[in-house]
Amino acid sequence: MFAGPVTFVKGVVAMSGLPPADRLEVCFAGRSNVGKSSLINALTGRKSLARASNTPGRTQEINYFALGETRYMTDLPGYGYAEAPVAVVRKWQELLKAYLSGRQTLRRAFVLIDARHGVKAVDEEILKLLDRSAVTFQCVLTKIDKINRAERMAVIEQVKGALAKHPAAYPELVVTSSEKGEGIETLRAIIATLE
Ligand code: GTP
Ligand code: MG
Repeated sequence: MFAGPVTFVKGVVAMSGLPPADRLEVCFAGRSNVGKSSLINALTGRKSLARASNTPGRTQEINYFALGETRYMTDLPGYGYAEAPVAVVRKWQELLKAYLSGRQTLRRAFVLIDARHGVKAVDEEILKLLDRSAVTFQCVLTKIDKINRAERMAVIEQVKGALAKHPAAYPELVVTSSEKGEGIETLRAIIATLE
């Protein structure tokens, strides 16, 4: 697992609430309902550390988790949730943009892509922002248990094609299922070895 205990630090609603930038940080970004909170739970081996739910738009703050004393992991509000009130969406977007482009210690952004849907226009917006901010991002396919082998090969091709256009993209994809555990150890190892 990770070196040291995993603990919830705080939920942040504005840039002024971020904890001191004193350690390496990774974040989990992605469309609403893509499986960010579930992935964090699977990675940490804790069933309900991050709140996961069937209701899109569940995570409305930047939730900070400490992995031992050397790194932070953040669970971000999902983007692209059409049902949310406009004012709320705008507030999340502003926070998300400020965070992704302005957090000095953010070493890698994991951008989650639902294996059933591939990279969508709303994802492209975030990928472009990460390019502009020079934040290395790595795509993580989620819910791989929901598709068959042929669909899996097709979505991997689609995502790789999309990544080729982005200078900040880390070329390797991680294929995961929080439900079945696929790819979880791989992702854990990536996070643990970042420096
Ligand atoms: P927001 O916080 O609303 O942006 O959502 P989120 O990205 O945190 O998604 P969350 O983890 O809450 O998961 C959304 C739904 O997808 C839940 O019903 C999960 O049980 C389901 N889910 C997440 N990961 C997987 C997976 O790997 N496989 C399957 N089958 N379902 C998953
Ligand atoms: Mg969530």
